[in-house]
Amino acid sequence: MQKILTLALVLFSIKAAAIQADLPLGEWLKSEKSFATERMLKNISPADAVPGVVVASPSKDNPNYYFHWIRDASLTMDQVVFLYANSREAKRATYQGMIEDFVALTLRQQKNPGKEGLGEPRYLIDGSADTLPWGRPQYDGPALRALTLIHFINFFPKTGLSHKDKQLKADTISAIQTDLDYVTQKWNTPCFDLWEELRGLHFYTQSVQYSAMMNGAVFFRAQGDPGFARLLQQTALQVKSELEKYWDEKKGYLGASRNLEQAPGSTYKSANLDTAVVLSALHSSDPYGKIGLSFLALDDDRLMATVAALEAAFLAEYKINASAKVPAIGRFTDDVYFYGNPWYMTTAGFAELYFRLTLALINSRSLKVTAINSGFLNSVLLASLNSGPLPALTVGTEIAVQSDLGQRILSGLTQKGDGYLSTLQKYVGSQGEMSEQFDREAGVPVSAPDLTWSYASFLSAARARAQLNGTP
Ligand code: NOJ
Ligand code: NOJ
Repeated sequence: MQKILTLALVLFSIKAAAIQADLPLGEWLKSEKSFATERMLKNISPADAVPGVVVASPSKDNPNYYFHWIRDASLTMDQVVFLYANSREAKRATYQGMIEDFVALTLRQQKNPGKEGLGEPRYLIDGSADTLPWGRPQYDGPALRALTLIHFINFFPKTGLSHKDKQLKADTISAIQTDLDYVTQKWNTPCFDLWEELRGLHFYTQSVQYSAMMNGAVFFRAQGDPGFARLLQQTALQVKSELEKYWDEKKGYLGASRNLEQAPGSTYKSANLDTAVVLSALHSSDPYGKIGLSFLALDDDRLMATVAALEAAFLAEYKINASAKVPAIGRFTDDVYFYGNPWYMTTAGFAELYFRLTLALINSRSLKVTAINSGFLNSVLLASLNSGPLPALTVGTEIAVQSDLGQRILSGLTQKGDGYLSTLQKYVGSQGEMSEQFDREAGVPVSAPDLTWSYASFLSAARARAQLNGTP
């Protein structure tokens, strides 16, 4: 009997998986959005943690991800801010409560940050600093957290605040100030990268720091603190000239790191080509599409060239990409963590990039073909649904988005964005689960199950697609 039941269950889940995989993309997105939201929220303030803790994954073993990472938590709470901004009444109050807990936890951690100060990358579920040996400090966390909290205050009502709301607002602003103040002190100090592996200076870290300070400058000017705003802006300008140095003319893409402290003779990551650069553009530009205060505009030709280089590298790297229209994307090609696989979060990031680039081009109305972006644009044209011979792109020409060629490019961009989402659809678990990675050969979920950040990035990508279609 037991056996028959198990068999029935197995057959049922195979069927469920088959149905999921066969759904038209739009329908799959709908069901996956609610699934991802539910699983993401489950990892926020779980019962055995103090309120405000966002565990990176429920996994407590191989790998143990049952910690509150500042980076993962901030990117996740940014999605909660969006849910807050787009809901009403009881639901809105629930989301506000989650953010309130996160702010309260942040204030406590800022007072008691551990021996690396605010560069401590992760905390235990009781809220105290982690003391296990780890790749620390990491200086992207405070910048990401400041950005998330700025987004929250920008959506917070301006008037009619209760006593409690006023307190929440004051606490949030104080948390932002502490984080940004720290960023102004640490932006040029080497630290571990977002992948917690290499010490040096990193494009990702400095890019989110730049954006946090630029957004902070606008924010504190509006709050009536021009002195702090000036400090932020001046420091950001220094970071900007550092960021220019990552462009690798010879390789033709933006390098991930500089001044790495590596063992002599190490060739690890010598290509310096890392999806982190693309993620930095997403995490430092305003997802609500307001002001462009990030170092890389989404239509920056250096970003396009980096995307093209990463696509070519990953296409050749993973077996599952052999006959794929768009490649499953990992962190970098010589990754060895869990044998080096594509990740859900990086693949979702590529989808989001394509949707947001489309939006950016619609807004800017034109696009210049340069020697740097022409390879990327050619590959986009190949993906376009429009038939007919492939038009030749001439370096130096300005393409109006309204023109035939412009429309063809937009169509190619959205096709590629959808291609990345379909790749996720193909490789999620039978119920729609996203762990951290999926196996480079078997295409099945591996490493930490229900990775909070995977769900958060999927939701962010799905939202960018919805924005293109005119819905929030
Ligand atoms: C855990 C880190 O979070 C991951 O990014 C890294 O690749 C491995 N440790 C190996 O260093
Ligand atoms: C490993 C990733 O490399 C790192 O970026 C992340 O913060 C941790 N896992 C937790 O998800």
